[in-house]
Amino acid sequence: MLVSNLLSGDPLLEAIADGGPTRISATINQTDPAVAKIQLALLDWDPNALPRFGSDGAYGGETSVAVHRFKRDELLVPEGQIIDDVGPRTVRRLDEIRSVAESQIPPRPPHPIRRDAWNLSAINVCHPILTAYARAVGVLKLNGGPDPRLWWSHHTQVHGMTPDPGDGLRNQCQHFSWFFLPWHRIYLDRFQAICQEIVAADELTPINVRQSWALPYWDYDRSDSNTLPPIFRMSQLGGKPNPLFDEERAPRINNLDNPKVLLATETTARGWFARTQFSAPSPQPSFGGPVTGFHHLNESGAVVAGSLEGTPHGTVHVAVGGATGKMSDFDQAAGDPIFWLHHANIDRLWEVWLASAGLGAGETNRDFLNREFAFAGVGGGAQNIAVSTVVDPSPRPHTYEDLSIPASAGVLPRQEGLVVSEHVSPQRIGAVDQPLVLTNGVAQAVEVAIPDLEVARVSGQGSGRVLLSVEHFTAENPPSTTFGVYIASGPEPEDIWVGNLPLFGLAESMRADGEHGLSFTFDITDTVQSLLATGEWDPASLALRFAPVGEIEDDSVGVGEVEVGSVSILFG
Ligand code: C2O
Repeated sequence: MLVSNLLSGDPLLEAIADGGPTRISATINQTDPAVAKIQLALLDWDPNALPRFGSDGAYGGETSVAVHRFKRDELLVPEGQIIDDVGPRTVRRLDEIRSVAESQIPPRPPHPIRRDAWNLSAINVCHPILTAYARAVGVLKLNGGPDPRLWWSHHTQVHGMTPDPGDGLRNQCQHFSWFFLPWHRIYLDRFQAICQEIVAADELTPINVRQSWALPYWDYDRSDSNTLPPIFRMSQLGGKPNPLFDEERAPRINNLDNPKVLLATETTARGWFARTQFSAPSPQPSFGGPVTGFHHLNESGAVVAGSLEGTPHGTVHVAVGGATGKMSDFDQAAGDPIFWLHHANIDRLWEVWLASAGLGAGETNRDFLNREFAFAGVGGGAQNIAVSTVVDPSPRPHTYEDLSIPASAGVLPRQEGLVVSEHVSPQRIGAVDQPLVLTNGVAQAVEVAIPDLEVARVSGQGSGRVLLSVEHFTAENPPSTTFGVYIASGPEPEDIWVGNLPLFGLAESMRADGEHGLSFTFDITDTVQSLLATGEWDPASLALRFAPVGEIEDDSVGVGEVEVGSVSILFG
């Protein structure tokens, strides 16, 4: 008679404990549900017993080695007499160990830590924190129960749904707006709380993880982390379909041995880290996005993306989603389980920016803080949540493993201390207003005349910034891609990278009746100054180049045209 909650009542384990004759081994009962339980009890005995596959439910070489060691070191069976299978003494002793572990449940930490998925993967590609997430997603994908327990018909639709059911609870994600970061933060907090409930009750997760689980994050901005974490690329987990796998993703991103690598320009902190303001009136660049009302992108009105929302947020969406993947589409994105780790990272970068002395400053505008968003209540109905409840000084429910400044942030530009007046809007000093057509796979050049740049600079108007604004994207059939913007003036052999134009959201913005909403603004003051310093640039015009970023793996996908309404240079 077994006593631990985990092992007792399992018919196979009870039978073995009673003396058999059946066993568990690499050839007998090797994928019976009892295997995962034995593996968990082995992990209670030695947390490092199964370093590669964890409790994956399959009795393979790693489990056999662990059982062998258990018999030798714990049951003190002489080496020559050990058989690598699970018999009565092994089950009974593991049951005792497990029942002690169950009686010593550690208290829930007040602030669980959101861990780096790649650091976890380096320990064990199927680290218990990751497999616990897989099982929670598996439960949600069953799509049964009250709203917050539904993967497809709740979590995914809250982000985007066409046609909009008009219930005020779906099709809600905020983009190209100062609400981008707080809305996704609330969305993630709620999702994490649901997963925490499932994980806490999950018998197949080690006890310490059940108590302290928080959503991990994917920090793609390092050379050892710029591919999809391996567990997301595995089609099977423990002999069953892996809930974290999604085969519609971009070509090769799921490849186990030779996965697609995200490029440094797609993940860099260079653009967002240097921004001094959380928000600014469109089209000025800012960290978090322009001042707007509710903004899902299918409202009319052109506004620019916040710097963090462009790169790495939008670039990573399209790099992972490609032409056909969920991550490229508002209505599907949250249905790919990597979405939540991507957004946990974006949320982390917000914290990094805030914690960086001299740079980040929380937004204090009352229209921002008092704005409420509706989410389905746990017991039904709607619950309104104000932005002020998820930003400082309101406490956060978790902390992050790493809040250090990303290496790619580079040296701090001289913008530090620059005071930008919200009342002086920068003036257009040059523009190309006939539409520019960008085709995926093809580079496109354009020259913008700016005869008055020198006059403006000398007169010392405004704060002296030079901005490049790329506005009003339209497309019949938007390719899912990112175009890089480069300055091709000057003597450098290489063009100077300015920023990215990720097209995540273009399809949604095309649903607006009025002006099309996708626009990006880049601060090019530093580049212009260094070009002037060379003495070899004629400041009367600026040569620009637009080129697709990353690999186009297959010409049959992702090829399409985008029309850009205007490219302009602003000063002030
Ligand atoms: Cu609302 Cu990354 O998406």
